[in-house]
Amino acid sequence: MDLVDKCAIISGAANGIGQATALKLAAEGAKVALLDIKSGELEAVAKAIRDNGGTALPLVVDVSQGAEVKNAVAEVLAAFGQIDILVNNAGVGWRQGGKPFKDVPEETWEWIMNVNVKGTFHLVQAVLDNMLERRTGKIINLASIAACVGIPKLAVYSASKGAIVSFTKALAMELGPSNINVNCISPGLITTQEHLTATTGNFLGRWGRPGEVAELIAFLVSERASYITGVDYLIDGGRVIGPRGV
Ligand SMILES: NC(=O)c1ccc[n+]([C@@H]2O[C@H](COP(=O)([O-])OP(=O)(O)OC[C@H]3O[C@@H](n4cnc5c(N)ncnc54)[C@H](O)[C@@H]3O)[C@@H](O)[C@H]2O)c1
Repeated sequence: MDLVDKCAIISGAANGIGQATALKLAAEGAKVALLDIKSGELEAVAKAIRDNGGTALPLVVDVSQGAEVKNAVAEVLAAFGQIDILVNNAGVGWRQGGKPFKDVPEETWEWIMNVNVKGTFHLVQAVLDNMLERRTGKIINLASIAACVGIPKLAVYSASKGAIVSFTKALAMELGPSNINVNCISPGLITTQEHLTATTGNFLGRWGRPGEVAELIAFLVSERASYITGVDYLIDGGRVIGPRGV
């Protein structure tokens, strides 16, 4: 139990990597605030945590909306008194399928950038006063291998994740002197859908599981990772090492 007495905010906590991260951080002893737009699924995750003896605060929030994020963070502070960990996980744009870039409507650009990039901006700004005041904090941003290698027909999503990697590095430089660690994680294909066939695009020959990403996040937000900041961690089964075959 590495995270006893820590308080965490996890966005996009109703499903996938966010849900697995919420369950993992709670199992490590953290009080967790769960942010998502899907209230039903959010309540189910909160119930699973409470049934296991943990503390969860589910909040229906659209991270692209600054005022909603500010209110949510105020609620978290009222309930928990502090914020030690922020996991910017809510993200959109790859599950919905890709389009050749020339056919991408402006609304798609706005939606993806508003959730993936502006949502991260809103949450970091909303928690910083508390972290700076207490000179402690761990921020994890979810990027993607799309940032490092790009994915065809996902140009806007790739651009949004590239922004997250650069943002992470700049923020780590700015916040290091205040004892706040900022890192990002770039997953390859991760799924809960066991019926999907294994990808042939990586060297482990299977899709990753949300829990495998949650393990990395739990390490990075713990004191075991106290000297790590400004790093982009690939977790992709070897997808971007190099070409397959000879
Ligand atoms: N799963 C993958 O293969 C993969 C690969 C690379 C990167 N990622 C990144 O990891 C993160 C999590 O991915 P996932 O596959 O678990 O996603 P997911 O689609 O399973 O879950 C994302 C969650 O974010 C929530 N969400 C969407 N828009 C929101 C908004 N405006 N405000 C608040 N919540 C919102 C959704 O309701 C959902 O519960 C994302 O940032 C994604 O881009 C995922």
